[in-house]
Amino acid sequence: MHHVVWIHGFPLSSRVYRKQLGIAGAEHVAPDLAGFGAAPAPNREYAMNDYAKDVLRLLDGKGIDRAVFAGLSMGGYIVFAIARMARERMQGVILIDTRETADTPEAKKGRYETIEKVKRGGVSVVVDAMLPKMLTPSATPEMVEEARSIMMSSSPAGVTHALRAMAERPDSSDVLRQIDAPALVIAGDADTITPPSDAERMARSLRDAAQVTIRGAAHLSNFEQPQQFNDAVAAFLRRVR
Ligand code: MLT
Repeated sequence: MHHVVWIHGFPLSSRVYRKQLGIAGAEHVAPDLAGFGAAPAPNREYAMNDYAKDVLRLLDGKGIDRAVFAGLSMGGYIVFAIARMARERMQGVILIDTRETADTPEAKKGRYETIEKVKRGGVSVVVDAMLPKMLTPSATPEMVEEARSIMMSSSPAGVTHALRAMAERPDSSDVLRQIDAPALVIAGDADTITPPSDAERMARSLRDAAQVTIRGAAHLSNFEQPQQFNDAVAAFLRRVR
């Protein structure tokens, strides 16, 4: 039986994967990253490598050597950090609404400006700015409320640490080309943060990749269209096995 490790995005928690944890044919592990959901914030500066080490340490504790690593957006950046340090532990990779490239200078500057805004105004500064991009206008009010509540469970320190880690993350194009495990690259057709063109580029660089575009989904494609998403993952897991 495979283990799938679901690594959430920013500013989210493991709850964003609530609808994936019943996918048959695998055991699921979905941690909260430091400073998000129920996990305490780091007490020092964090880089993507630190989040990656936390995930690997969790797997070590559970006696899980190899797994399928799934990462949504910032979770994808962490999957690349894991690939850089422990590629041999990867049975498969699922990249969800993410990208391998580093921040542009403007994006990086924006992250540091956001850090200052969060210090003054709290987590809602980021939640209000990002929530409209997470789901399509067709999402139900209940879905929007749940996404908001997941985002609001982030701690201010968790958010500022992660913003800095994202701003400073390296380009992972080289790492992407070295991944030899089977990969599934997924993006929502209406994702404006990491559009399907990012997924296409990653799928081209990977050695063994399938690409799926989710219809009627923005950034949180797994959350907004769980049926389409889960079907794609179930088919992929049968292939990995
Ligand atoms: C995420 O969903 O993790 C973030 O949108 C990633 C980012 O801001 O680059």
